[in-house]
Amino acid sequence: IKNIGVFTSGGDAPGMNASLYAIIKAASLKNITITGIWQGYDGMVDASFTHLHPKNLAPHVHQGGTIIKTSRSPRFLTLKGRIKAAKNLKKAKIDALIAIGGDGTFRGLMALKEICDIPTIGIPGTIDNDMMGTDYTLGFDSAVNTAINAIDNIRDTAESHNRIFLVEVMGRDSGYIAINSGLCTAADGILIPESKKDQVLLLNKLQHFKNRESLIIVVAEGDETGAIVMAEKIKAINKKVDVRITILGHIQRGGNPTAFDRLLGIRLGVAALDEVLKGTTNVMAGLLNNKITFTPFEKVVKQHKVQTELKELVELFSR
Ligand code: F6P
Repeated sequence: IKNIGVFTSGGDAPGMNASLYAIIKAASLKNITITGIWQGYDGMVDASFTHLHPKNLAPHVHQGGTIIKTSRSPRFLTLKGRIKAAKNLKKAKIDALIAIGGDGTFRGLMALKEICDIPTIGIPGTIDNDMMGTDYTLGFDSAVNTAINAIDNIRDTAESHNRIFLVEVMGRDSGYIAINSGLCTAADGILIPESKKDQVLLLNKLQHFKNRESLIIVVAEGDETGAIVMAEKIKAINKKVDVRITILGHIQRGGNPTAFDRLLGIRLGVAALDEVLKGTTNVMAGLLNNKITFTPFEKVVKQHKVQTELKELVELFSR
């Protein structure tokens, strides 16, 4: 293996640049060429490639986003698109691929495997933390810290006005950001897709709510009720309450990566490079119990479950 293609795909996540830097730095010390593939799978379909040098990345390690850009590529979902991508990879003499992204990214690599024999390794990059085979995904810690800062600010104004605030955080199918940011801000309620008890507990608490106090309720984007419907439910219980909704949205995806995410990116980047050089394929590098592990894509893309202990904490603190 002499030339490795790297790309970022799906939602960007803080820590992706640190991981790219580590891969490129470690590869240059082994005289391996790193070809950057622009804008995820779209760049593969369009043969949009660039040579990457550690000097290109070092000034971006502290930045969120991804310097080689990303996409959710509808063209790569078609067989025609994948055939074109495979031909472009061969033409560019790319011997192996390292992809940083979420489960959609790894499903893409599994589909590519059907028509292309290039070895592939994944690095988990998504703020949602909703992947098997790793305790943490790149960007999760940074997104949680961003959400915490925002909720702390909301707390100040909520307290001053005695208002109820529903703060919606990201997490398409997962309550991890809601759980961590909600627990760390002493939220009065945390609504997540993984629990059915959480809403019952909250509505029960609201029966005893006095209008001279404030409440912070953190709602995961993927929760079945959602912040807007929940606000209506609260108003139906108590017409006098002053309710506000704040949707944090893409604010959570940007910003400087925390030390944890930078280090995670660096550790997984170097490990992924070493593993792909051994010829290993179709696995994701992850961190389980603080040890680097490699899990087959088939297992990684399975439905991720929130730890029971965390779910119990949510229910305990929602009382
Ligand atoms: O990357 C994960 C995520 O941030 C989810 O939490 C969210 O639902 C989704 O991406 C938003 O995607 P997009 O930026 O494509 O709207």
